[in-house]
Amino acid sequence: MNVSMIGINFAYVISAALFIFGLKMLSSPATARRGNLVSALGMLLAIVVTLLAQGLDYKWIILGMAVGTAIGLVAAYRVEMTAMPEMVALFNGFGGIASLLLAWGEYHQYPQMSTFIAIVAFLSAFIGGVTFTGSMVAYGKLAGRINTKAILFKGQHLINAGILLLAIGAAVLFSMHPASGGGYALFLLIIVLALSFGVTSTIPIGGADMPVVISLLNSYSGLAACAAGFVISNNILIVAGALVGASGIILTNIMCKAMNRSLANVLFSGFGAVTQAGEGGGEQGEIRPATAEDVYYILEAADSVVFVPGYGLAVAQAQHVVRELGDLLEANGTEVSYAIHPVAGRMPGHMNVLLAEANVPYDQLVEMDDINPRMDSVDVCVVIGANDVVNPAALEDESSPIYGMPIIETFRAKTVIVLKRSMNPGFAGIQNALFFRPNTRMFFGDAKASIQALIAEFKGSD
Ligand code: TAP
Repeated sequence: MNVSMIGINFAYVISAALFIFGLKMLSSPATARRGNLVSALGMLLAIVVTLLAQGLDYKWIILGMAVGTAIGLVAAYRVEMTAMPEMVALFNGFGGIASLLLAWGEYHQYPQMSTFIAIVAFLSAFIGGVTFTGSMVAYGKLAGRINTKAILFKGQHLINAGILLLAIGAAVLFSMHPASGGGYALFLLIIVLALSFGVTSTIPIGGADMPVVISLLNSYSGLAACAAGFVISNNILIVAGALVGASGIILTNIMCKAMNRSLANVLFSGFGAVTQAGEGGGEQGEIRPATAEDVYYILEAADSVVFVPGYGLAVAQAQHVVRELGDLLEANGTEVSYAIHPVAGRMPGHMNVLLAEANVPYDQLVEMDDINPRMDSVDVCVVIGANDVVNPAALEDESSPIYGMPIIETFRAKTVIVLKRSMNPGFAGIQNALFFRPNTRMFFGDAKASIQALIAEFKGSD
């Protein structure tokens, strides 16, 4: 190994360490932003060192980086917080297609590859292709550009198994003689099968499960990049790909657990095809609407208030006004906290990101497992645009599609105030028994406008 190789590998070790520290810091809201920066620094170091080491034709690289940076910047500035999962889906897809193209380019240039390199080129192209089209379908479903329901038909699993077997068969033949006459045709066949499999394996999954699928596809994009790293013998690509692959699968597992479902159930049950808006109970008795003034008197008299945010907080962009209301309550001598369900919203950490944006103190954030044991002593739970994650049917109704999912048990608080615009169901498409409980008051309206009305009540009383 010459001196420059030692230098390159040393820089790669530093990059890998920065990735790992960055990932560790992502596990707490207090350090997550810095963690992101630390990992990005690791990636910058890896890119600079790789470019300097390879002696490439820089004009194409610079052009590619300029175009990519421009698209990335515009996308990042323009994307709404609620559309973040769609953006992640697109990024995963681009990662996948990059690995596919890398393997293809390498094979095109050097068809005389060893069996090992042929196998990793197959893995890079196949997993990358599946990730690309799978992510495009996930994006289309989340953005409502294609049918969000699970598309199921007879023999679907057989077709998927057939495509997979065909791809494995083609991969075996290809790896044995990659440079033979039929090698190129086999490689192209593998690409076509991968792109098809991405579509056929994602369409049976309903829109409601797309965030889990996106996390899984994120893991695939890492595995494809890892395989691509072996194809071009780039150590840092292998490490980065392995880290993305592992983190993606850990996150997928956390999300499945939080919904009390297995990954197989998410991938094969066609959840979105069977649950329709309005299913799962319908009207379950009387509801008790409340005005801003009613809610003000309840909050003003409370010793402890727990806010429970959900997807509606993101839609209403109510995070800043919630913080303002929280401050007013604290000034009134009330103990304030924010209970976070692991799958509230539409992406992991959705609520944490929103509340961090409004500078809600981290010590006021409480996890589901910590708030539930002391729920009986909470005076008021204010549910802000959350629905499925506070639905008691998950504990009580065995026929409910969300039965078994752990929830924030707001129904056990002395009083529950629910802020939402209508009686429409949440993501799972089912009615919520909480709204009909005797200790629940429904405060209808856009969450931001409702909270502003409460703030006005507090300020008006001064
Ligand atoms: P949901 O159950 O989807 O309920 C959101 C509620 O917000 C709706 O009932 C809606 O009622 C209300 N809302 C919408 N816009 C509003 C606005 N402007 N003002 C006030 N309220 C508004 O949300 P959740 O409780 O956060 O549950 C998340 C769901 O997503 C779960 O089913 C979960 O399994 C699923 N999911 C999440 C993830 C991740 S990682 N977060 C991953 C996979 C699946 P109105 O229309 O009446 O206002």
